[in-house]
Amino acid sequence: MGSSTNKVVLGLQWGDEGKGKVIDQLAESTDVVVRCQGGANAGHTVVVGGRKTVLHLLPSGILHERATCIIGNGVVVEPKALADELDELSAGGADVASRLLISDRAQLVLPCHKALDAAYEQAKGKGKVGTTMRGIGPAYMDKMARTGLRAGDLADPAWIDRLRAHLVAQNRIIAALGGRPVEVEQAIITLRPYLKRMAPLVADTTAWLHRAAAANKTMMFEGAQGVLLDIDHGTYPYVTSSNTGVGGVITGSGLSHRQLGEVIGVVKAYTTRVGGGPFPVELANETGGKGDEIRRRGGEFGATTGRPRRCGWLDLAAVGFACRLNGVDSIALTKLDILDPETVLPVCVAYELDGKRLDGVPANLNELARVKPIYETLPGWQASTVGVQRWQDLPAKARDYVAFIEKTLGVPVKWIGTGPGREATVCR
Ligand code: IMP
Repeated sequence: MGSSTNKVVLGLQWGDEGKGKVIDQLAESTDVVVRCQGGANAGHTVVVGGRKTVLHLLPSGILHERATCIIGNGVVVEPKALADELDELSAGGADVASRLLISDRAQLVLPCHKALDAAYEQAKGKGKVGTTMRGIGPAYMDKMARTGLRAGDLADPAWIDRLRAHLVAQNRIIAALGGRPVEVEQAIITLRPYLKRMAPLVADTTAWLHRAAAANKTMMFEGAQGVLLDIDHGTYPYVTSSNTGVGGVITGSGLSHRQLGEVIGVVKAYTTRVGGGPFPVELANETGGKGDEIRRRGGEFGATTGRPRRCGWLDLAAVGFACRLNGVDSIALTKLDILDPETVLPVCVAYELDGKRLDGVPANLNELARVKPIYETLPGWQASTVGVQRWQDLPAKARDYVAFIEKTLGVPVKWIGTGPGREATVCR
C-alpha cells in the first residue's frame, strides 16, 4: 500500500500540545483516523466555525464526514464516556456512530478502575501522579495482569458473570487500599445500556485496517497524551500508562511499521504540564508569576479535568529526545500567537547536571529534579501573529524563532498555529 500518504500525529511534550486542531485539519484528506492508545483521559479540542468541541475518547477525525474512525485495540474504552460523547455530537447534528468502529481487542474501563484510580492516588499521598481519574492506569493494569475484559467479550453469554466476578475481586483491592468499593449489582445495571449501545460498533478492527491498507485508503494515527508521558520513556512514574509514541501506534492498531508513513510531531511554542512530576523549565506559576501569565493568555486549563496547567518556556532538550525516539519527520508548531507580547524568549536547548551537559532526559527522578536547563535567549517579536496564514506575513523575529527550533532539532517545521480556528494556520 502507499504508506507514504499515511500520517502519525504525536505530541512531543507532556500532552496538551494542540494535537486536536492538527489532526482535525489533516483528517480532511484522510479516509481512516485511528486512535491507538490511552482512553478518555485525552482532551482534544477542535474549534469549527467558532463552535468548540472537546473529544476525549473518539478520534478527532470524527468531525469530518469522510473519515471512518477506529478505536484501536490499544485503547481502553469506557462505555459511558463513549455514549456521552456520541450523544453530545449527535445533539450537535452529527451522526457519527455509523462511521465508528471499536476493536474487539480493546480493553474496557469499568467502574472498579475509576475507584482504583482514586484509591491508588489517595494511597500515594504527596507522591500522587495527579491522574485524570478516568481509571486509565488500573484498566491497563488489568490488561497486563491478563484479568481485563475486552470489548469483544460482550458477545459471550457468560460475560455478565465474568464482569460480576471481576468487580467482586477488584473490590477486595479497593477496600485494602482504603477506597470506596463498587456496588456490584448496581454497577452492572448501570453499565448494561451503555454496553448494549457499544456492542454493534465492536469489530475486528485489525483485519478491517489491513483490508483498508490493501485498498490504498489513507490513514492517520492520532496520538494521545505526549511522548514525555510515555510509560517507558517518559518521566516515570509521573506518566500515563500507555506507550504514547510510534511503538504504541504499531501495537495499538495491529498494523506494521511499514504502514505508518510520515511522523508529525506536535509541539507547543512553550511548554505545559498538568499533574505531578518533574518539569525542568517550569516558571513561577503562582498568581502574578510568568507561568501564570502564559497560562491565562494561552487558556492553559485541562480540557478533561479543568485543572490549571503548569507553564514554562520551550524545552527543546525534551522535544529533541522525543524526536529521536520517534523518528519525527516534521513538526507542527502550535500556539505561536500566545508568545506575541513577550520581550524575550528563553529556549532550553539542553540540560546540565553537576556541571555536565546531557544529551537527553535522565531516567532517574532525582537527577531530573536537579537538572538545570541551558537557555538560549531569543528576542520576542511583540507584534500580533493572530490569524496569520502566510509565512512571509509573520514578523521576522517570529520566523527566526521557528528557524531556531528547526536548526536545534534538525527537523522542519511545516505547520504553524496562529489561533484556535482551523483557518489560523501557516502551512509551509
Ligand atoms: P492518567 O493518564 O489519567 O493515568 O494520568 C497520568 C498523567 O498523565 C497525569 O499527570 C495526567 O495529568 C497526564 N495526562 C493524561 N492524559 C493527558 C492528556 O491528554 N494531556 C495532558 N496530560 C495528560
